[in-house]
Amino acid sequence: MPQVVAQGKLIECESQANLRKVLLDHDVDLYNSGSRVINCRGLGSCGTCAVKVEGEVSAANWRDQTRRSLPPHSPTSELRLACQTQILGDVKVTKFDGFWGQGSQIVWTPEV
Ligand code: FES
Repeated sequence: MPQVVAQGKLIECESQANLRKVLLDHDVDLYNSGSRVINCRGLGSCGTCAVKVEGEVSAANWRDQTRRSLPPHSPTSELRLACQTQILGDVKVTKFDGFWGQGSQIVWTPEV
């Protein structure tokens, strides 16, 4: 079973589980500030669920690539949209600041 480490939590999940759902189901603060309320609920259009993911996950799909190619995101950043990402193996997740999680300051790490 894959293990997800995020915000100091160790979570076990099924292979191919959706990263957004796994994080929210375990009370990880996926969204920053107002985006907790104003987000697309996993459609891949708002871009606020962006996180850095280290580990084995699905390849970025077209929704993920398209939204992250638009400001304030950058297609060259190493972020992924959690709602468009399937967990395939053990992963570590980091959240950055900014409404869309697009900032350079860490909000939480895998461990804390
Ligand atoms: S929740 Fe909106 S893009 Fe992921």
